[in-house]
Amino acid sequence: MNLRIPGPTPCPPEVLQAQARQMVNHRGVEFANLIGRVTQRLQQVFQTKGDVFALTSSGTGAMEAIVVNTLSPGDRVLALSCGAFGERFADISKAYGADVQRLDFPWGSPVDPEQVQLALRKDTSIMAIQVVHNETSTGVTNPLRDIAAVAREYEKLLLVDAVSSLGSLYLPVDAWGCDAVATASQKGFMAPPGLGLVAMEPRAWEANAHARMPRYYLDLGKAKGFLAKKQTPWTPAVSTYFALDVALEMMLKEGLASIVERHASVAQQAREGVKALGLSLLAENESYASNTVTAVRCPEGIDCDKLLRAMLDRGVELAEGQAKLAGKIFRIGHLGYVSENDITGVLEALEETLVALGFKVKAGAPARRD
Ligand SMILES: Cc1ncc(COP(=O)(O)O)c(C=O)c1O
Repeated sequence: MNLRIPGPTPCPPEVLQAQARQMVNHRGVEFANLIGRVTQRLQQVFQTKGDVFALTSSGTGAMEAIVVNTLSPGDRVLALSCGAFGERFADISKAYGADVQRLDFPWGSPVDPEQVQLALRKDTSIMAIQVVHNETSTGVTNPLRDIAAVAREYEKLLLVDAVSSLGSLYLPVDAWGCDAVATASQKGFMAPPGLGLVAMEPRAWEANAHARMPRYYLDLGKAKGFLAKKQTPWTPAVSTYFALDVALEMMLKEGLASIVERHASVAQQAREGVKALGLSLLAENESYASNTVTAVRCPEGIDCDKLLRAMLDRGVELAEGQAKLAGKIFRIGHLGYVSENDITGVLEALEETLVALGFKVKAGAPARRD
């Protein structure tokens, strides 16, 4: 199966093999060496000198961790949202009692940093901003660098959901001034699900000193104490650590710049390919179309579920639309372990499927790039 959903993503064979290893004592020497290596490799991929933790959770757990470790109930938070994951991030803060001020943008458009600036000028009681770098539900990448610059200018804490961007898109955490960043093992990192990855920068630790949201399992203060002993507070997902270790080694061997370039190239291939078939993207302007997931409008008269089922019959698994985009779009995941051939396979199957469903495919659609 050509699994082209935006996570979990396929894993390289070496990563799968690593996962099949026998267990080790998570309080022993072998795990200590492993967590030491994984942490140091994660710091390289995050491009940070700050603390990075691999928590046993999914990406949502990592998002929750950066919220509850930096905020207090009643804190005013500006939650930027242009899709389902922006909403989820806002919901997490709300669930823990933050005073959430939502700034919404149309689904398919990015967050506008100027509007963020205006909102901060209008409401000086805001103390933190939360944003999704790459909105997986709409295939839009937000201008995180500019949003971070606004956060720095107004001295607000910046919490970032980088679940479908880190390790695939350019995101130098320290250079851009992000304070706390959450991602997960099963996306750009080419590893199985199981580890929520979190970066905590010095300003996030300053906030942590007086953050009063309740926390126990996700207490990063505890995680920091244990990491100093090369352990985790609770039993970690040992097999996912084995897998992530090998995946990180592969990523660093390929090099961050090449990874970013590969994602840009396959994304462009996907966008060009679907447009050549006569389909249109949800992101109206390609300058902010995501390089990890492409959201495609389901053409008039074509049943989106039927299209996805017919793609499955051809060995390609795509993702459906989420929340209010259900039945309106489908999404092609192209992050992590992905190459030009995988996208060619998607485009060929898509052309056949559309023809079979009676859609008039544009003549001479270039599914292949030769
Ligand atoms: C941008 C974004 N944030 C958060 C999540 C949630 O991650 P998880 O399903 O690992 O909890 C996802 C998963 O698709 C995502 O794409």
